[in-house]
Amino acid sequence: MQIPCTTREKELFDRVALAARQLGVPCYLIGGFVRDKLLNRNTKDMDIVCVGDGIALAHKVAALLDPSPKVNFFKTYGTAQIRHKDLEIEFVGARKESYRQHSRNPEVEPGSLEDDQLRRDFTINALAISLNEADFGALLDPFNGRKDMADKLIRTPLDPAQTFSDDPLRMMRAIRFASQLHFTIVPETLQAIRENADRIKIITQERITDELNKIMLSSKPSVGLDLLYQTGLLKIIFPQMVDLAGVEMQEGKGHKDNFYHTLQVIDNISRNTKDLWLRWAALLHDIGKPATKRFEEGHGWTFHGHDAVGGKMVPRIFARLKLPQHDKMKFVRKLVELHLRPISLTKENITDSAIRRLLFDAGDDLEALMLLCDADITSKNKAKVKRYLENFEMVRQRLKEVEESDRIRNWQPPITGEMIMEIFDLKPGRMVGDLKSAIREAILDGEIPNSYEAAYQYMLQKAKELDLTPVK
Ligand code: CTP
Repeated sequence: MQIPCTTREKELFDRVALAARQLGVPCYLIGGFVRDKLLNRNTKDMDIVCVGDGIALAHKVAALLDPSPKVNFFKTYGTAQIRHKDLEIEFVGARKESYRQHSRNPEVEPGSLEDDQLRRDFTINALAISLNEADFGALLDPFNGRKDMADKLIRTPLDPAQTFSDDPLRMMRAIRFASQLHFTIVPETLQAIRENADRIKIITQERITDELNKIMLSSKPSVGLDLLYQTGLLKIIFPQMVDLAGVEMQEGKGHKDNFYHTLQVIDNISRNTKDLWLRWAALLHDIGKPATKRFEEGHGWTFHGHDAVGGKMVPRIFARLKLPQHDKMKFVRKLVELHLRPISLTKENITDSAIRRLLFDAGDDLEALMLLCDADITSKNKAKVKRYLENFEMVRQRLKEVEESDRIRNWQPPITGEMIMEIFDLKPGRMVGDLKSAIREAILDGEIPNSYEAAYQYMLQKAKELDLTPVK
């Protein structure tokens, strides 16, 4: 076997080989499984292609396994899947394309192994391993995928325009593999992406976003994001990001290129977290900048309020990209809205109440927010970076001290809305909300201590101003 494999995998290959022999159909391991094995990456999804009926082969293999797994199959596509222990195995009959000129979706018909390899996306994904008696374990590589792998190249087996027209999502896959594997897309393939970028519009948002998230989860997402930008794909799938690009000059003053700054921030944060949503927060932290950009004479460029404006943009962006609408979106929105707050606390004479407010507003997401703020420091001036980081360390220390004394994180004021309604016999409404927030603000401002008794007395005093008397 020309790929490293576990005993469990080896046993399975023997079963598949036996089933194929019994049916008289040649069969091969192919695609991502072979690629990832050769690259020493973890993989659990196995694709098997046979020159014959893939569904029949899946049933035969299932019958030879103990326990015999259920076969899920799709007659229209001629594919079948089984699960065996922790392995997911997909079977398909080798196919070739036909009637290209007359149909946007090419027709497929049974073909040879080589036909099938030719219609795959990249040479590194077209490698096959024989599971047949004559040459069991041999690597079948008609398009030099092994060499491209060694040279770290992404290349299509066919003319790239053809490969991308068969399935335009492959343009995003090329960029995703470049980002995940640190490979380079060969110039002809890259040029074909530029020329065909518009075709991405026929792909469903879910499939696009799936690839985008894989780019976001790669170790250096800037590689994929910059390729998306350079090829014109980003403009189509995520125009708000492209609005961040470029530098405007007035009175000889420019501002930083917010697109490349953002890419640096996402790379920085990716060194410290694998959390997809924290990475999304990094990607979107400055998304409100284009909408808030102003040139103030004698002063320069400002982006006042870009945190709040950016936060407001998050729900629409998540909806358009079909990203999760609830907790994840709220988390990203909150971080975008709060991303300037820790920086504002590095100034001198910061009161405990400002610190307390950040603890209250950030709650459990404080650590994530601090990671984002660290990542946001992208100055090339080493002395400046050092000063910022030291300032942040001080903020962290203050946050810790105030948290230890006040326990404000995830804190709820000692008097709830229900209590207020009961004490003053009020129905839910504005008055209850006003009283509740007055108490909360007084505690956060340090005007009164964080205790039930102090809050109760304060509430009575506020109620008096509103002509309210307690009924109990
Ligand atoms: N494939 C293709 N064109 C696509 C999708 C897939 O040619 N648009 C082929 C490739 O040969 C690929 C194989 O089908 O290797 C399996 O596809 P899939 O499981 O989607 O992707 P992998 O390449 O295995 O990569 P990953 O699991 O990381 O998505």
